[in-house]
Amino acid sequence: MPRPPPSTVGASALQLAKSILLSSSSNQDRNKGLRELTQILTTTNPPLFTPRVPTPYVATLEQQQRLQTIQARAATILPDLLVLDQSEEDLQKKQENTQSNQTYGTTPAETIFTLLNVLYPHGSSDPQGSFIDAGSGQGIPALAAALSNKFHLARGIEYEPKWHCHAMALQKAYQENTTELQLPKACPLDYRCGDMTIPASFEGASFVFSNCVLFDAELCQSVSHRLEEDLATKDDVFVVTMSRRLALPSFDLVDVLSLNANEGLFTFYLNQKANIGTSLFHATSDSETMRLLRESNDTDEHEPPYCWEELIEFALLESDPKVGMPFLIAIAASEPSTRTLGQHVALWNTLQMSMDGNLPTKALGSMLLRAMVDHPTGRRSVTMNADLCGRIIAMIGDDTEHPAVRTNLLDVVSNLLHDAPLSQFSDELDGALGGRGSGDDDDEDEAGNSINEALEECLTMRRWWEGHQRGIPGIRN
Ligand SMILES: C[S@@+](CC[C@H](N)C(=O)[O-])C[C@H]1O[C@@H](n2cnc3c(N)ncnc32)[C@H](O)[C@@H]1O
Repeated sequence: MPRPPPSTVGASALQLAKSILLSSSSNQDRNKGLRELTQILTTTNPPLFTPRVPTPYVATLEQQQRLQTIQARAATILPDLLVLDQSEEDLQKKQENTQSNQTYGTTPAETIFTLLNVLYPHGSSDPQGSFIDAGSGQGIPALAAALSNKFHLARGIEYEPKWHCHAMALQKAYQENTTELQLPKACPLDYRCGDMTIPASFEGASFVFSNCVLFDAELCQSVSHRLEEDLATKDDVFVVTMSRRLALPSFDLVDVLSLNANEGLFTFYLNQKANIGTSLFHATSDSETMRLLRESNDTDEHEPPYCWEELIEFALLESDPKVGMPFLIAIAASEPSTRTLGQHVALWNTLQMSMDGNLPTKALGSMLLRAMVDHPTGRRSVTMNADLCGRIIAMIGDDTEHPAVRTNLLDVVSNLLHDAPLSQFSDELDGALGGRGSGDDDDEDEAGNSINEALEECLTMRRWWEGHQRGIPGIRN
């Protein structure tokens, strides 16, 4: 599908970017251009992810009847399956999983239908690929996917044998009634009992769903790695997670929805494989202008040369930091851009140096970090820089630092802890936070409490500081 021509704003942003990279331009002009470009990017890029409420997809009468029939029959099959005693192996499995990972909740079929309708909006299309529910519990989402007529296979993977029995009852009822229910193009429904983090669990999937609201940080990381590895060569694939955002460097966050599950309203994060060219969506955290700048690397000899990477290098290494840093903060509001930013070695030197600079430099450095860690991929790249993390924690503990800088950094750390526990730093972090509420350094619970208290305080301060919208007077243009 050919890409539509850029809008006027996009075209003028690209022109501006090209002029910044012209070696014949004076330094003053290049900095002026970068400042103007930052303004365009901040006004055109949505800074926050606001979940939208999609129009609910109303299941057809046929779909509702099929669902009801299968569920009713499954209820009669279930007792036979459940009488099986749990084997030693099953009990062992249960013990190995954490309480949080085992917590059960379910996603109604209507939610899955609505979700699929948002992503594949053209009614009943030819079955496309396979749907996998990662942590499938009693199996409803996979059944709904099988009935949607949008997949050639629907699968669930569940660790806990008891829930798997429920899913097997659904599978049996579904298989036994395929002909009677007149399913349009019978989509095989398949449930596996096992650990979804083992290699090849998601191989071949075109849609992975996970109701991972209570998965702990370790499981989230293992699932992220598994998805990245198993889907490495797959282009047309969506990953939808609830409440938790996984660190998926090769995906763009393309939509955020508010939908029913676990008997409440939850935020669903829709990720799509990045750079697939004919993508249905633009990343929600991205603007057309941002995307144009990122993807317009050209070497046309009739045009002034332009390269996104060079633009970032200019901002990092050559521009006036008071102009370059706000530009980097602006592009870090976009998830795909944060990913490209994290790959620049110079970024990490610049951030380290900014922490040693004067107040405006530190403030800008901490704001850049804050913008980056709003994205899981940004969090992952920051946590990989142990020296920087150590420095941030030391600064939080330094009473002489400006409160605005400490607030930003506390916010950064609270985000880093969100999906990658900085375990090697927890003592230092606790010390830095002043051991609030703890009289005894050896008491791990007390240490945990003091960190939690400080992070709560950080959330309050973040509200006070009004997110990225407000800079430090006098240092932002
Ligand atoms: C909140 S339930 C969701 C059930 C289902 N997907 C739904 O939305 O109705 C999450 C499920 O993930 C399962 N789970 C946790 N860790 C797992 C792992 N490593 N492999 C497979 N399943 C796992 C839990 O046992 C639990 O049943």
